[in-house]
Amino acid sequence: MEVISISEVGKHDTEHVCIKGWLYNQRSSGKIKFMVIRDGTGFLQGTLIKSEMEEQYFNLLDELHYESSIVVEGVIKKEQRAPSGYEMLVKTIRVVQNAQEDYPISLKKHGVAFLMNYRHLWLRTQRQNAILRIRVEIVKAIHHFLQQRGFYLIESPILTPAACEGTTTLFETDYFEDKAYLTQSGQLYNEASAMAFGKVYCFGPTFRAEKSKTRRHLMEFWMVEPEAAYFSFEDNNQLQEELVVAIVQHVLQACPLELKILERDVSLLEKVQSPFPYLSYDDAIKIIQKHGSSTQWGDDLTGEDETIVSKYYDRPVFIHHFPTKCKAFYMKPDPERPETVLGADLIAPEGFGEIIGGGERIDDYQLIKDRIREHQLPEEDYQWYIDLRKYGSVPHSGFGLGIERTVAWICNLPHIREAIAFPRMLHKIYP
Ligand code: 4AD
Ligand code: MG
Repeated sequence: MEVISISEVGKHDTEHVCIKGWLYNQRSSGKIKFMVIRDGTGFLQGTLIKSEMEEQYFNLLDELHYESSIVVEGVIKKEQRAPSGYEMLVKTIRVVQNAQEDYPISLKKHGVAFLMNYRHLWLRTQRQNAILRIRVEIVKAIHHFLQQRGFYLIESPILTPAACEGTTTLFETDYFEDKAYLTQSGQLYNEASAMAFGKVYCFGPTFRAEKSKTRRHLMEFWMVEPEAAYFSFEDNNQLQEELVVAIVQHVLQACPLELKILERDVSLLEKVQSPFPYLSYDDAIKIIQKHGSSTQWGDDLTGEDETIVSKYYDRPVFIHHFPTKCKAFYMKPDPERPETVLGADLIAPEGFGEIIGGGERIDDYQLIKDRIREHQLPEEDYQWYIDLRKYGSVPHSGFGLGIERTVAWICNLPHIREAIAFPRMLHKIYP
């Protein structure tokens, strides 16, 4: 008998098939019983009718606890009311393991602290499954988009000798006789790769010892970072815009069921179309101050500031020309206005905050050396990076898109912790 995936039931209407999975839910009413089986690819209702199956299997269901591993056989048929449009008329059940009775997560509401402690089991629920499935599609869309545009995937290292995004959020570790840091961003290495390959991207975990406990911060998060030689600030923003539109379009097309499970208002996602609006940092400051923010010209924007700005737009907005002094050492000053940089943050709509940070990089040999000194970074650790400005330096730009922030926005999650399978949070590393 053919073993099928629940995600493919539609191809097996009226067929007698087998599904290998777990018992998600059940209820009985006399001569008819219902179960929900999940197999990782989806959730399917099974109907057990006493008169249409062997009694031993009909009775077996009552003995099974939640999350027992089971193999069921039956006939797939159309069922309008089911989310997938199908159900199974169950004929036999084989028990692989009857789970212990005390399965901690029931399908009623639990507090978040409780669920976080059982994250290893919480992942099995329908909502978490939908979120992480959307994440998979987002990642797929990113690789597809960048590879179609001729970007080569060149990984940056995780263990690094120096900081990329400031020294205050580094995770330090021993490296034989030396110290090493977990990377905050693959960007610096990407710049070397871009000078070797033209258009590149890295995609990996990045680490920030952020002492902030917000709904937008993780200690470990995934970032995709494209970088390209002979690429201007404007080219860079254009690429971001096209990437974000492509991601949203792909999710809308690939994940209608998941978005429905999450009760996501897809009409808001459908508005994510080119062109994206541009707001200068100067004008952003005026807007947020009007709303009572205490942020002054020269400060980086806070999460609340970003939320205020995002309420003005129905699609992501670029905030550009940040003050040089609040941004990273590598950002290129605008020649017309050197107190500001050719850098932009892309702010998601609906109050989800910054999803991308990027811009043009300093390509001048003397200026990059000056900046490294001004930021009190140890020049010897950056010698290789300075070399890139010595041997065939060109204008180049790039950006980093945070995967979990993007997932949180597209799935409309109240907190970023649900956007990754095993979130690393402030003071919390279990499970
Ligand atoms: O703006 P950031 O710090 O930019 C960089 O790291 C650049 N070096 C990237 C580059 O140009 N190649 O971080 C980029 C993005 C943010 O916009 C946000 O989406 C995400 O990474 N991010 C975080 N996500 C979750 N938790 C955190 N603590 C994050 N910090 C940044
Ligand atoms: Mg940023």
